[in-house]
Amino acid sequence: MLKINEIYHGDCIKLLGQVKGLPVRLIFADPPFNIGYAYDIYNDNKKYDEYCDWTRQWMHACREVLTPDGSFYIAIGDDYAAEIRMFARELGLHLRNWIIWHYTFGQQTKMKFARAHTHIFYFVADPKNFLFNDREIRVPSARQLVYNDKRADSRGKIPDDVWRYSRVCGTFKEREGWHNCQMPTKLLARIIKTSSNPGDLVLDPFSGSGTTALTAAVLKRNYLAFDLSETYVVSARERIARTLEQEPGDLDCDEPIFILARNQRRPVGTNVVRRTKKLELSENKSPEKSY
Ligand SMILES: C[S@@+](CC[C@H](N)C(=O)[O-])C[C@H]1O[C@@H](n2cnc3c(N)ncnc32)[C@H](O)[C@@H]1O
Repeated sequence: MLKINEIYHGDCIKLLGQVKGLPVRLIFADPPFNIGYAYDIYNDNKKYDEYCDWTRQWMHACREVLTPDGSFYIAIGDDYAAEIRMFARELGLHLRNWIIWHYTFGQQTKMKFARAHTHIFYFVADPKNFLFNDREIRVPSARQLVYNDKRADSRGKIPDDVWRYSRVCGTFKEREGWHNCQMPTKLLARIIKTSSNPGDLVLDPFSGSGTTALTAAVLKRNYLAFDLSETYVVSARERIARTLEQEPGDLDCDEPIFILARNQRRPVGTNVVRRTKKLELSENKSPEKSY
């Protein structure tokens, strides 16, 4: 049997076969999207049928290890979102939300609208028995922020199903730099806080840069993660050890829009007067130097 709090090198379907007996309460899977992305070992350019067969297999293997009250999130691009939805139905998984992760810093296009989102499916094994820690992830509501409405729930509201987190761009402090698909810890923090408790076991079959395992560890959950690439596994282990050494404390899952809103001195939308610095031009000052 596998040890918890470890990232294993190997094929996730084989490794999932060794998980039986461990109570996996939450699975987050961010598989290769089959769009020709450059990984070090994995070939992300499979024939349609081959990719679909493989997807069915790893989804089935994940379903097998999930606790009866477990949650299963899958991130996927446009090209295979419909297929994943169908395969999940075949497996008897229940869809709770079809979340859109809308990211800023989408790629620029010339002849069509820029793609700036990823689908995140939120499935559960049993629609009547699952964990949903709403208090951990509430956000300020429009009633609180925009309308200053006294009837607003002071705890805020449960977030919508469109999430706005930036991708982890090259210039970001969070960026590791050795894996191009690194997901933001804030996004994982929202999922992990919602669908697991401290001490629960969180599993990621496609660990990549180790974001799920890292976020789980910081949030005092146990983790198990797998990746086909030994290089990624070694680097992800180092990333986790380095982060935990620095005693990171809690990890928040605030979207930037709510951080901005919280910092406003008055509710957003109420007669905000923009103060612009008046340019004072004198004979000695040129306009170019005045701002
Ligand atoms: C989209 S990336 C995951 C990125 C991750 N969410 C993060 O935040 O870094 C997909 C990963 O799946 C791995 N992979 C591909 N096939 C696999 C398999 N059969 N078993 C385990 N890992 C696999 C790739 O090496 C790659 O690192």
